[in-house]
Amino acid sequence: MSMVSSPAEAVARVAYLSSDVVISVQSSLSKDSDFSQHLHHFASNRAKNHVSRSIPEIQTSRTNADPLLSAYTPLRSGRLVSVTASSSILLTSIPHLYKLAEYPIVLHVSVQQTPYPDFSEISSIRQCGFSFLHSETLQEAQDIALTAHALAIRSGKGVIHYFDPSNSATNGPIALEKKQLVDNLLMIDAMQPFDAQSGDCFALYADDGRIATIPEQEGIQSSSGTISVKPKAQSQSPMRKDIAPSSSSETSSVGSSRRESSTSSGPASSAATTVDPPATRPVTSSDIYKIVTDTWARMKQIVGRSYSPIEYTGPQDADSALLIFGSTGVFVDVLDDDKIPEDLSRVGLITARLYRPWLGSTFVDSIPKSIKHLAVLEQVRRNTTKWGPTFLDVLSSLNPSAGGKSSITLVGYRLGYIEPATARQALRGIFQNLTSAAPIQGLCIGNESGPDQPLPVVEVQQPQVEAAYFKILNQLFGQRLHIANQLGLNNAGISPTIAASPEYGFGSLLARIEHRKRFVLEAQEAARSQEFITEPPRQWLSKWALHADDAQKANDLAPEVISRLSNDGSRAASHLLSLKNLFFKESQWLIGSDAWAYDLGNSGVHHVIASGADINMLIIDSQPYSERAAADAERRKKDIGLYAMNFGNTYVASVAVYSSYTQVLQAMVEADQFEGPSVVVAYLPYHKEDDSALTVLQETKKAVDLGYWPLYRWNPSNEVKGEPTFHLDSERIKQELEDFLRRDNQLTQLMNRFPNFSANLSESYGSEVRKLQKRKAKDAYEQLLEGLYGAPLTILFASDNGNAESLSKRLANRGRARGLKTMVMAMDDYPLEDLGTEENVVFVTSTAGQGEFPQNGRAFWDNVKNAGDLDLSAIHYSVFALGDSHYWPRKEDKIYYNKPGKDLDARLSLLGAKPLRPIGLGDDQDPDGYQTGYADWEAGLWQALSVADVAGLPEEPPPVTNEDIKIESNYLRGTIAQGLQDTSTGAISAADQQLTKFHGTYMQDDRDLRDERKAQGLEPAYSFMIRCRLPGGVATSSQWLQMDAISSDHGNETMKLTTRQTFQFHGVVKTKLRPAMQSINKALMTTIAACGDVNRNVMCSSLPEKSAYHSDVHKVSQKISNHLLPSTTAYHEIWLKDDKTGEKAQVAGPAVVDHEPLYGPTYLPRKFKITIAIPPHNDTDVYAHDIGLIAIKSSETGRLVGFNVLAGGGMGVTHNNKKTYPRTGWMMGYIPVEHIHIVCEKIMLVQRDHGDRKNRKHARLKYTMDDMGNEVFKSKVQELLRPHEIDFEEPRPFRFESNIDAIGWQKDEKGMNHFTFFIENGRVEDTADFPMRTGLKEIAKVHTGEFRLTGNQHLILSNVSDEAKPQIVDLMKKYKLDNTQFSGMRLSSSACVAFPTCGLAMAESERYLPELITKLEGCLEENGLSQDSIVMRMTGCPNGCARPWLAEAAFVGKAYGAYNMYLGGGYHGQRLNKLYRSSIKEDEILEIMRALLARWSRERQADEHFGDWTIRAGIIKETRVGSEFHDDVAEDESDAE
Ligand SMILES: Cc1cc2nc3c(=O)[nH]c(=O)nc-3n(C[C@H](O)[C@H](O)[C@H](O)COP(=O)(O)O)c2cc1C
Ligand code: SF4
Repeated sequence: MSMVSSPAEAVARVAYLSSDVVISVQSSLSKDSDFSQHLHHFASNRAKNHVSRSIPEIQTSRTNADPLLSAYTPLRSGRLVSVTASSSILLTSIPHLYKLAEYPIVLHVSVQQTPYPDFSEISSIRQCGFSFLHSETLQEAQDIALTAHALAIRSGKGVIHYFDPSNSATNGPIALEKKQLVDNLLMIDAMQPFDAQSGDCFALYADDGRIATIPEQEGIQSSSGTISVKPKAQSQSPMRKDIAPSSSSETSSVGSSRRESSTSSGPASSAATTVDPPATRPVTSSDIYKIVTDTWARMKQIVGRSYSPIEYTGPQDADSALLIFGSTGVFVDVLDDDKIPEDLSRVGLITARLYRPWLGSTFVDSIPKSIKHLAVLEQVRRNTTKWGPTFLDVLSSLNPSAGGKSSITLVGYRLGYIEPATARQALRGIFQNLTSAAPIQGLCIGNESGPDQPLPVVEVQQPQVEAAYFKILNQLFGQRLHIANQLGLNNAGISPTIAASPEYGFGSLLARIEHRKRFVLEAQEAARSQEFITEPPRQWLSKWALHADDAQKANDLAPEVISRLSNDGSRAASHLLSLKNLFFKESQWLIGSDAWAYDLGNSGVHHVIASGADINMLIIDSQPYSERAAADAERRKKDIGLYAMNFGNTYVASVAVYSSYTQVLQAMVEADQFEGPSVVVAYLPYHKEDDSALTVLQETKKAVDLGYWPLYRWNPSNEVKGEPTFHLDSERIKQELEDFLRRDNQLTQLMNRFPNFSANLSESYGSEVRKLQKRKAKDAYEQLLEGLYGAPLTILFASDNGNAESLSKRLANRGRARGLKTMVMAMDDYPLEDLGTEENVVFVTSTAGQGEFPQNGRAFWDNVKNAGDLDLSAIHYSVFALGDSHYWPRKEDKIYYNKPGKDLDARLSLLGAKPLRPIGLGDDQDPDGYQTGYADWEAGLWQALSVADVAGLPEEPPPVTNEDIKIESNYLRGTIAQGLQDTSTGAISAADQQLTKFHGTYMQDDRDLRDERKAQGLEPAYSFMIRCRLPGGVATSSQWLQMDAISSDHGNETMKLTTRQTFQFHGVVKTKLRPAMQSINKALMTTIAACGDVNRNVMCSSLPEKSAYHSDVHKVSQKISNHLLPSTTAYHEIWLKDDKTGEKAQVAGPAVVDHEPLYGPTYLPRKFKITIAIPPHNDTDVYAHDIGLIAIKSSETGRLVGFNVLAGGGMGVTHNNKKTYPRTGWMMGYIPVEHIHIVCEKIMLVQRDHGDRKNRKHARLKYTMDDMGNEVFKSKVQELLRPHEIDFEEPRPFRFESNIDAIGWQKDEKGMNHFTFFIENGRVEDTADFPMRTGLKEIAKVHTGEFRLTGNQHLILSNVSDEAKPQIVDLMKKYKLDNTQFSGMRLSSSACVAFPTCGLAMAESERYLPELITKLEGCLEENGLSQDSIVMRMTGCPNGCARPWLAEAAFVGKAYGAYNMYLGGGYHGQRLNKLYRSSIKEDEILEIMRALLARWSRERQADEHFGDWTIRAGIIKETRVGSEFHDDVAEDESDAE
């Protein structure tokens, strides 16, 4: 049988069974409290409570996040609430306690051990209006917890049940609470749902006037009868069968508590006007007493255990007694001992089980009349008053005027820590003093400093995630940083909780500031005095004193002053030196949580701002954006930023480290420099403290993007300088907020006018606008159709990637041609309320995720699914579904095939809609894809609508293809220039989106924000990716600096070093596109032809160890790049033209005319990529490109002589489409260096003329060559080369050894140094842990050589002389850039960008691969493989940007969180891999990889690479050529039927 073994467990069980909501207060969200582990355990078992038979909601709250605030909303909606917490929350919760006392809430409080039980928090809040119950043993904890709930329910008032867990540490386990007892005590049968006040609007910090009341007339019955405390109509208590006190107990109960009883409260004036008969009166102390004693009487009947409000144990004729407010355990052990010493045998022990209300008369009645001496022991660490509160309670109870006895001698003691072994001695001491002629009051018994081995102290913990901001503060201010309320600081005599509180910190900072002020005065005086022996101290001191408040200057001068003083030797000098730290000006910070935001009027923020002191506050707000709407309305925070701005004297910044690192730095520096208070409100949203960085990032982005958390800085001191005080740093922000904030001088008036205006404004805005938009669109359509005849046909689609959408639009055209009044819309754009009034509706939906609705149909489906009252009996409908029967290959996943379409069809039918024709299913696996199923379905549809045989249908215009767009574009102009000027949207037109690619930029939208923006009725967060053209990936330091500046001025503060050796910027919004392009041009770089159907950036091995040879080859890459550059002037016209002068700026490169001699007006059928590898390095993956050149050097001179030419490599694939495959380049032969650009040109021209221009999926050179045959292709190239008298020679021998980079230092033949940095997945960014971007920028400022980007996304600092090296090494160390200690797998890995910017991504890649590798590293270590290189690559989709098909192990995104796994690639990039498993998720990936790695470590032969081993071991078949890629796969997708 289950047993209960700790009081926390007993209490957690009872709380869970007796509540609808349990607020579990924990010191940290990642660490369970004694209670929470049990609560979560019950909740995970979905156990129901006894009171409402529902599963209680467990709300977790941090100790310092104002936990009791969460209680109001559930209480007011009539739910039973309990709280489990340590007593450390009580003092800060006092404002709440007074109000919560009038609600039936139970607080179970475990008394803090600091380091021994301290009941001072309990006694401090004893007057807050709650009833207090105390339990000591494990059994009591269970019984009293239950009593507390019964009392709360029946009195309608708050109850605090407190206990010291250490007191019952040695108790054996007890049985579970008895169901019968619980039901009886909680009066389950009798209880009505707690009927709360509703509809009223409460102000949290004003008295909301609730008073628990009972009907005046009703009488109290005895224990077996029903009892009722019936609150007045507005504020009912949960139960209806009432008790009412007898009038005698009413008067007798008051006793001593007249003065002190906290519970009896007169009706507040607001409550006095109730009109509800019968008349009610407030609940009194005696009502509480009655309920409690009645509850215990029932308990005794059922389980035989008895309790009473004041408990006396001991002989009935005792003449001395001990009353303990605290834990009695040690004394009970002595007094209960059979061998009790004679002198202690006539001693009684008194405890107050019911501590509040304190009923004086009950006390007197509960103790034997024989008692003459009473010792009152209070276990509180500090006495704040001369007489302890319990002492005063007892004193007033014994007062004869209150009916007590005056003949008892009363002596107060303070109780410290008592070692069990000394308990007897302590008792003797107490009684000796008590019975002496002149007893001493206020003696302390036991050890004040606690046990030798302190009990574990529950500490407040800094949430891990919040470390980011601390790290930045440390980086910025280093030694100067002083955080006043930092956790873990040693503040003698102060509890960690108090020391961490901002109020404490504020006080200590003020003291610090005063201290330094005095020191500055002293220094000034000393400078004027004659007390120094030498002269310099005086001069330096006066200089220093002049700048003492200027951190920069004071701190620069401080070491000088100190050194002069140290040389002086006078007494004055040594005095100043004894305080030398004060010569430095600190950067002083207070750290607070968003709990500060709830009551600004009383909070630390207010105090600091109002003080005007030069103190910086960092306030971390951690509420996730996605929770803000669901959050408790009462918890809506005040906007600290606006509040502080309103003061006028305060520097204010709103920052978010996961949105803009640079802005955080800026704000902190400005805050530090500002003379006066500064408030930096910092966003760091998390649900749990161990949330992954990705989750925090995504939450931050949503909040910033949607204006919930705008980034701004407000610096009042700018006004003096004539600069704007307000800086808006958010890229996108709601217009209203911007306007609002701009009018900074009118801030107060505006706040008054829009009291609700705060960050939350966007919420209602979004949904209303969205509704309006839907209505408008539909009405406009209807107007359009008004003049038409024919039957109506409404087509609603849901589509993620456009198939279902274009099918629907074409269907609509065809419908119109057949005379139908046709309307076509996305499902989510359609007002659902109109659906029942339609006549004919066709639904076309594709399938997303795992059998899910596409984005633009999700809301529609949710509504249709949940709308119980939707009557569709008047409509006719049909569904066409698009899906892929093998998208999820496992048999059990068959249900996902076309699931949304099938679900919708079934639901419509259930709602009464009549089918026009049965559902049609389109399958990507059919010979013509979804078209196969569609043709048949469409024909049936026309028949059902009786328009099948319409004559004279017009010919359908063919769809616009990329080829059309190119022809129409006038050499790549299109309407790009006009589109850029349109400020009404962040997007450009679809055709221009294709054309801008040729200019090196394309449009993307932030996919982290898609759903949220859509819900708000906003267009997607469009921005642009810009890719530079950088042949061979070589940039100068100044170019690096300029690229860095572009990323922060125009982009998202990061740069991506791509797998094709160039810079890529993300997040460039439309308005910044031209400035960014111009900056790139100023850096003498260009973006032309970095994307699009042209020759792209030409790559070249980075070869750090051979400078001269590298330079030969690199020149060739530049030559080819320039030779194949498009000639159009459109680029210069659109991006670089000076708006004022109309002058076109020139980029570096050949002069241009509007004529494309190489490309012609339609350019190439598809992109075209050229790369050069220098053996033995295949770091550019020479086999993966349209043209791969293998550099051949002269054996005599060691210099470049020519190239082996490969053609027809390529990576792009479409999942499940076997007509697409990756391919390695085919060897055409050797060409001497001087002809190589011509050969590249001719290969490109053959592709230009023979590539497939109809099907873009089949347009790359690899397919042209396979369709034509390699030899035929070669002969066509040869034909074009003949006039130049060039022909292919036999390929020259070469040998590749690896395709990865050697991280670390290398020396070249000229003695120059090169360092290869490991840049994980090419992302150059700053984080709090690793300010890499700043570091590289600092290095670029001093570095005179080059920066070389590698094909593996790393970076080489090239050509560092021995003289320059030490400085570089220092900088590298400072910024942690010298780290080369990574696992072999990590060093050999790469990932494409994927989420959030790549529109084609199906799964995470760059943001996930590092995490996956971390999870594998343990296994690598176990198998001794940490240093072994395994080429592992990941991409978010099968387009293959990170060349996954050549990796030894690859993961290619299939759907969010699911990947296809490939094995068997060649270590040198020479062999393709093959599908091993499809659609697997992380746990499967880890399981498979762990098993494979363990086997490889055991079975591999000397130097055998992982990819080679997987083939030899028979795990995967070898792929020899691309066309074999789909053969013999380990898990054949189509065989999974
Ligand atoms: C990420 C992703 C997940 C998919 N999941 C499924 C699925 O679970 N079941 C299915 O039948 N088809 C699935 N498909 C196939 C698509 O529904 C199908 O390719 C369709 O033609 C896409 O249409 P759309 O462009 O309108 O979105 C999935 C496709 C993608 C890209
Ligand atoms: S591989 Fe796919 S997901 Fe990754 S960047 Fe390329 S297109 Fe995007």
